Order: sequence, then C-alpha cells, then structure tokens
Amino acid sequence: NQKISIAIDGPAAAGKSTVAKIIAKSLSYVYIDTGAMYRALTYAALNHSIDVNDESSVVKVLNAIEIRFENRVDGQHVLLNGNDVTDAIRSPEVTNTVSIPAKHRLVREEMVKRQRVLGESGGVVMDGRDIGTHVLPYAEVKVFLLASVEERAQRRYQENIEKGFSSDLEKLKEEIALRDKLDSEREFAPLQKAEDAIELDTTSLSIEQVVEKIMDIVSLKL
Ligand code: C5P
Repeated sequence: NQKISIAIDGPAAAGKSTVAKIIAKSLSYVYIDTGAMYRALTYAALNHSIDVNDESSVVKVLNAIEIRFENRVDGQHVLLNGNDVTDAIRSPEVTNTVSIPAKHRLVREEMVKRQRVLGESGGVVMDGRDIGTHVLPYAEVKVFLLASVEERAQRRYQENIEKGFSSDLEKLKEEIALRDKLDSEREFAPLQKAEDAIELDTTSLSIEQVVEKIMDIVSLKL
C-alpha cells in the first residue's frame, strides 16, 4: 500500500483547500496548506509593522517564527509560535497583503524547505501555487484547479459572510484578479500549471464532482 504525494495548485479561491482536505481525510493522508504558511508570515510581519516589500526584514520575521499545523476535532488549526492564528490569517488585510511577502526569493526558498520537510514521508496532499512546479516536482498526482473570477469571487463572498466578515462582491472580484496577477507575474516560482499537471475547470462543478475527478486520477497511482 504505497503512499503518494498529491499536489493541488491554482489561483485564489479555486476550491483547492476544500477539496484537498476531503481527499486527505479519505486517504488518511496529511493535508498541508502552504497558503496558510505565507499568510501566517504576513500576519506576523503586519503585527510587527514590518515593511513587507523589504525582503531582508521579512526573512528575519520568517526566521523567528515557527508555523505548525494541528488537527483537532473541529478541523485543522494553524499555530504561529504556539498561538492559534487559524481565523486571524484569513482577514481581508492579510489576504490583500500576502502576495507581497510571498514574492521574495529568500522567503520562498525557506518556505519550500519547510514544506518539503512536512511532505518528505509521502502520504501528503499539499495545496498552493508552486507545489507541482517547485515544492514537490516528483508528486505522483498534480492537479491544477481553475474557475472563472466571477465564480471564485462568489465563493469567497459566501465564505466571508459565513465567517462574519463584511463583504463586497465587486471588490472581491478586483482583489482576486489582482492577487492572481501578482502571483502569476512574480519572478520566483510564479503561479503556473506544471507541465505534467492535470487541469480541472471547476466553474460549473460541485465540490463532490471535483473530489471524484481527482480521486479517479489518484486511484490510478495507488
Ligand atoms: O492559498 P491561499 O489563497 O491561502 O494563499 C495565499 C497567498 O499565499 C497566495 O495568494 C500567494 O501569494 C501565496 N502563496 C504562494 N505559494 C504557495 C501558496 C500560497 O505564493 N505555495
């Protein structure tokens, strides 16, 4: 019974974490949310009033923080130096800033190192932007999830409302499009489909349908 690595990449709010969690659970694999790691770093930098455009300042923050995932009955929690930041890292401020600290080469190199350690024993579902291209280039399954900006904004809108954040659909559309642009156009490890990744447009698919399609691909590798 071989344990494989599954890489799920794609633009913001394409449903990566939702399906990655379900797949990890059904295979009893570990789920690693790499976006949460960049978010935790951003949260720490904002808290210390660090200039997120300054690479060496951001690297210093990263070197001073430990980011841990903990699975509890109510889901996965993100711990930043032992403090629970699960909800705090989803704030609009963090969301609209995170692409800046994430563009720095030295930040990405350190994150990739940490992510590879987390995924080294296999049996992992990892989601992000550069998992198939950089973090786990040898992953047995690589999926690139897509959806229209309208659909993704609508999904994020629902999420925000459920979390009690105020939300504006038009503004969300602009923010998602901008984040995609920054993530796609950055110099180091931009958002990009790996050559050997399978592209899945989820615009008109339900979560269950997306999970089923990915599980079909996974079952061929087990
Ligand atoms: O996946 P999520 O939307 O939480 O990711 C937040 C941000 O973290 C992305 O917009 C991107 O700037 C950055 N990120 C990244 N590489 C990853 C995962 C996330 O640059 N592997």
